[in-house]
Amino acid sequence: MKKVRKAVFPVAGMGTRFLPATKASPKEMLPIVDKPLIQFAVEEAVAAGITDMVFVTGRSKRSIEDHFDKAYELESELEARGKSELLDFVRNMIPKNINCIYIRQAEALGLGHAVLCAKPVIGDEPFAVLLADDLLDGKPAVMKQMTDTYDYYRCSVLGVQDVPRADTRSYGIVDARAVADRVEQINAIVEKPKPEDAPSTLAVVGRYILTPRIFHHLETIKPGAGGELQLTDGIASLLSEEQVLAYRYDGTRYDCGSKLGYLQATVVFGQRHPEVGAEFDAYLKSLGD
Ligand code: G1P
Repeated sequence: MKKVRKAVFPVAGMGTRFLPATKASPKEMLPIVDKPLIQFAVEEAVAAGITDMVFVTGRSKRSIEDHFDKAYELESELEARGKSELLDFVRNMIPKNINCIYIRQAEALGLGHAVLCAKPVIGDEPFAVLLADDLLDGKPAVMKQMTDTYDYYRCSVLGVQDVPRADTRSYGIVDARAVADRVEQINAIVEKPKPEDAPSTLAVVGRYILTPRIFHHLETIKPGAGGELQLTDGIASLLSEEQVLAYRYDGTRYDCGSKLGYLQATVVFGQRHPEVGAEFDAYLKSLGD
């Protein structure tokens, strides 16, 4: 029985919604207080027992590689200054058994293409996909909830939530029927439908567990919404031969690809922060006076 051991992080997107902040640095490196979005996503994968992190990168993404790499200069500087707590912190940012692998997506041809770029590293195994600009706050971690679901049903699983009908054009939308608590069987999936055309309001968030058969379908699909090779279209094609489930995760999603979601996450995680949380909370309350 194959476990989900590998995760793909497509990080080659342009991040136009956060310009100018993302002109020279990736949107996945935007911090929520002091931790970059990509690190939240990697920690979620680690919590699900995933050990191989596959980043599909593009231009201006060097800082992601540097972030997960050993930082010799920084470490010796911290050591020289006797900052042992910070030193421990940067040394143990991710567990020792984690492998980080980088693949370059030469052209940004869409999410489906980005996932297909990971095929040589994934091979014949089920794998996870995490979109770091969807920050999912759950206990247990949302990806752990999904790998548990995968271990039980042994088929592809997509993280979903209900959205307002007016918002369907921002998401992959599924047509599904409930089979168990939180679990639905998908009949159809469509990328970014207009509200009047959407088969439901159940939207895919940036969390997927996919069987390796998806690669065959990603190799055959044509450009879809926005002229891009869409992961959603690959999954729609996969449905013709395999069951795919939707999983209503237990947790809160912050859409950190939007300014509003990013600010909301910053406030919530700021209030919870061990160092500044109490003071920040008092500050926010004082604003209401
Ligand atoms: C992508 C997917 C979409 C999914 C969304 C979740 O869209 O194509 O199906 O619902 O992520 O955040 P994007 O937000 O990259 O346009």
